[in-house]
Amino acid sequence: MKALLGIFGAGWVGLVTGACFAERGHDVVVRDVVSERIEDLNAGRLPFHEPGLAELIERNRERLTFTLDVAELKEGTSIFFACVDTPPTPSGDADLSYVWSVIDDLGDPGEATLVMKSTVPVGTGGRIRAALDQRGLDRVGYVANPEFLSEGRAVKDFMNPDRVVIGSFDDAAGDRVAALYEDFDAPVVRTTVASAEMIKLAANAFLATRISFINEIANVSEAVGADVADVAYGMGLDKRIGTSYLSPGIGYGGSCFPKDVSFLKLLAGNSGYHFQLVSAVIEVNDLQKRRVVTKLEQRLGKLRGKKIALLGLAFKPNTDDMREAPSLVLASRLQTEGADVHAWDPLVDSHPALEGVVMEESLLDAVRDADAAVIVTEWPELATLASEEVRAAMRTPLIIDGRNLLDPEAVRGAGFDYEGIGRS
Ligand SMILES: NC(=O)c1ccc[n+]([C@@H]2O[C@H](COP(=O)([O-])OP(=O)(O)OC[C@H]3O[C@@H](n4cnc5c(N)ncnc54)[C@H](O)[C@@H]3O)[C@@H](O)[C@H]2O)c1
Repeated sequence: MKALLGIFGAGWVGLVTGACFAERGHDVVVRDVVSERIEDLNAGRLPFHEPGLAELIERNRERLTFTLDVAELKEGTSIFFACVDTPPTPSGDADLSYVWSVIDDLGDPGEATLVMKSTVPVGTGGRIRAALDQRGLDRVGYVANPEFLSEGRAVKDFMNPDRVVIGSFDDAAGDRVAALYEDFDAPVVRTTVASAEMIKLAANAFLATRISFINEIANVSEAVGADVADVAYGMGLDKRIGTSYLSPGIGYGGSCFPKDVSFLKLLAGNSGYHFQLVSAVIEVNDLQKRRVVTKLEQRLGKLRGKKIALLGLAFKPNTDDMREAPSLVLASRLQTEGADVHAWDPLVDSHPALEGVVMEESLLDAVRDADAAVIVTEWPELATLASEEVRAAMRTPLIIDGRNLLDPEAVRGAGFDYEGIGRS
């Protein structure tokens, strides 16, 4: 059954959700509070980079409306998705002010369903249910439907989910949301609201744990002469383990993992439980971002006055998202040591936290006269970094491969000094 869907938030999750449901034949109104966002979308421009999304929006333009006006969102709509940001507060807890602004903006929509796609701490749905009831809005069903898409492949992820999680207080509201996913080829997990909220936090914390685990294996491998690439491959072939999220590097970043792991840690702490494992995952990740600086110092001595080229700034390839990008920590640490930091990224050409970093237009400009080049993001463009042109341009042909993107033997064969993460 085709429906008219209303979406709060024209960010990664809101736009992808809206465009994908439009592709499935639903009419969708997407509302944001930032006027530039809506102007961009109405002019056919995407406010951020996400592969395939612009084409999907263009193809479904007739079924998609972008507006600032909450009344337009509510007109004839009975299913609303909350896809607003839930950033961390200075204490690491979730700032739910945007979520609550949705409840206020929704007012009294009559018979309706509110679907929470934003990632929220466990218990949020219960509090929202109580607030709705207190406002006499018991005709508004509440459903937790956490989103698992990954930036850079968000459209594919949304269209082909591993599972759809639907947590509800009453079956009827859950059924309405499940019906929207009828033609998706994925198992549907029906559960309580609290369990749905926990599935999202636990899934992200588990993936982050794998990353911190393999980073620690990499660090020990360096000390004992093993090669973590072989170790991860050998481990991952075990079907009980699998290969995904076993790539060592300079730590995870982005808008989700850091905050979601922190939400889980604090949620546990606020409930009287000390979650030791996630505390360690966070600490390992923080330290991992700094190890590149130690590697540079071991090779170059004091970094004062040394020119360091940071290659890649976004928190991962195929996105221009800089939220919690490890590059920000790395650049700041290098600047503190007095290094002359230059940077290049295929999509990112500025960021307020990169003051003093020279943003270069090309990879070659970034490495010219550099004492070291550091691969920070595994952009495919960097796979051919170890070229004659780059070697000739650098003052010292040293590559620190923070993502183990390159083949050490080939790079050394091309005349570079090379160090990856956890590789012999
Ligand atoms: N980005 C991801 O990869 C991803 C994946 C899964 C889940 N999530 C979760 O989904 C949520 C949204 O993430 P995002 O990356 O899309 O955030 P985002 O910052 O890209 O977008 C959120 C949008 O909501 C808008 N907004 C805030 N209050 C509003 C209101 N009252 N009405 C309408 N719009 C409003 C903001 O202006 C912003 O444009 C977060 O909780 C996040 O943790 C994100």
